[in-house]
Amino acid sequence: DLSPIDTAKFVAAKRASAFIESGMKVGLGTGSTAAWLVQCLGERVRNEGLSIKGVPTSSRTAELARNVGIDVISLDEARWLDITIDGADEFDGELNLIKGGGGALLQEKIVATASDRMVVIADPSKHVQTLGAFPLPVEVIPFGWQTTKALLEETITALDVLGDQITLRMNGDRAYVTDEGNHILDLHLKHIGNARQLALVLNQIPGVVENGLFIDICDIVVVGHGDGRVEIQD
Ligand code: A5P
Repeated sequence: DLSPIDTAKFVAAKRASAFIESGMKVGLGTGSTAAWLVQCLGERVRNEGLSIKGVPTSSRTAELARNVGIDVISLDEARWLDITIDGADEFDGELNLIKGGGGALLQEKIVATASDRMVVIADPSKHVQTLGAFPLPVEVIPFGWQTTKALLEETITALDVLGDQITLRMNGDRAYVTDEGNHILDLHLKHIGNARQLALVLNQIPGVVENGLFIDICDIVVVGHGDGRVEIQD
């Protein structure tokens, strides 16, 4: 028996998996909601003979996809994708997102951008009026990360974004390391007034590889509820 939150994630994933048809090249997201999607697709591969190529957005998802029987290829082999289905940490009314809570934002953004359509699957807790309550992940290269952090602080102050601190994401007592060997700085901003502007400005800072704001990338959000209902926002 699933808890309400897992039911919500599962029904969203299940509904989104129905968008997938044989012959498609599919971007596979990362996180607990996306893991349900990978399970659903694996089931269709095994039971219905669904024939797809999956491009994972993390080493974790690659392993899971292979385990459930999905044919995994790299983005360079695929070049472009029909669709990507992924979770999100927050989405707003314009379907702009914060992603990267699971640390995979860089591959996620590259894969989503290479896709004709991006579908987000989520439970209702991810829906916000204004992005920013969830700390915004920024992937930075390890070289000089403290300098990059100081530049990020200056930038946030100059933009007058409400925020108090930037923290280095940890894995136990060491800095968290992404699939690309980078670190993540989490920006505790509370309220991002102009997400479009912030997304552009952050990526101008030397040392910043990518930020977790997904602006104009997502096309559809499938929201699952704890009672099994599903809503589509597009
Ligand atoms: C991974 O890097 C993130 O972008 C995830 O998509 C996000 O953290 C959502 O994860 P859950 O589905 O586990 O909430």
